[in-house]
Amino acid sequence: MLKTILITGCNRGIGLCLTQKLLEDTDNVVIGTTRSDTKTLLALKDAHRDRLHIIQMDVKIEKSVKDAFTQISSICTGLDAIINNAGYAPDKTKKAENVTRSDMMDAFEINALGPLLVIQQSLPLLRKGVMKKIINVSSLLGSHEMNPGRQVAYSTAKCALGMITNVFAKELANEGFTVVAVHPGTVATDMRPDLKLPGAMPHIQPEESAESILSNVVFAKGNLNGRFVAWNGEAMPW
Ligand SMILES: NC(=O)c1ccc[n+]([C@@H]2O[C@H](COP(=O)([O-])OP(=O)(O)OC[C@H]3O[C@@H](n4cnc5c(N)ncnc54)[C@H](OP(=O)(O)O)[C@@H]3O)[C@@H](O)[C@H]2O)c1
Repeated sequence: MLKTILITGCNRGIGLCLTQKLLEDTDNVVIGTTRSDTKTLLALKDAHRDRLHIIQMDVKIEKSVKDAFTQISSICTGLDAIINNAGYAPDKTKKAENVTRSDMMDAFEINALGPLLVIQQSLPLLRKGVMKKIINVSSLLGSHEMNPGRQVAYSTAKCALGMITNVFAKELANEGFTVVAVHPGTVATDMRPDLKLPGAMPHIQPEESAESILSNVVFAKGNLNGRFVAWNGEAMPW
């Protein structure tokens, strides 16, 4: 059965790998949103013209999200799953005492308000889909228990994304939805240039993160509604 899956931030990093892995199965149609195309994404589009739709969307800009959904509604009659993957960390090295209002607002708009708006706009299409899954890519830094005391703007926003997950999970439970937050692992992407340095902490590659998220979360058989899990399926503390 054909499945239609929306991924935000599909041009690089984990989002690009999720897109690549999904397209390996001819039963999947991907609607990928991006602010800027990359060579790899355009090559992927060339190879999968009828199963990959690329839509421009900046999750920080309400009009951009709404315009994107006008286009998405003309492409598909329903969505099976959405993966709120786009994210941004403005404060990687800043201590909380130095974080600015603009850092806080950027982090919140991209990591929390963006996904909220994407969920709201997706709901009419998700209600017509079969899987009814909403996957929010969070972070261990959004967990009170796991955060070692770092990146207050990014962590606060991911923590809020956890509450957005919790509330939607409860509001939509009776309609058969699964709303789940996932920590993708410590992943060597542009977001973590430190992982490319000698002696970097243990980490995984985006391909492994994407493949695991697909099997353990997106296509998981068990009930994950309202849960926070890691890429490998292990439970995460809120
Ligand atoms: N890498 C890790 O270790 C790690 C750990 C925990 C959680 N995460 C989460 O995993 C997700 C993917 O991150 P990644 O590691 O793949 O990072 P990445 O390589 O930096 O990719 C970030 C993606 O988000 C998109 N994005 C940023 N701001 C956006 C905006 N305003 N509107 C639309 N798209 C926007 C980027 O698009 P542009 O190319 O246009 O900027 C890019 O596609 C994020 O939610 C991140 O917080 C990552």
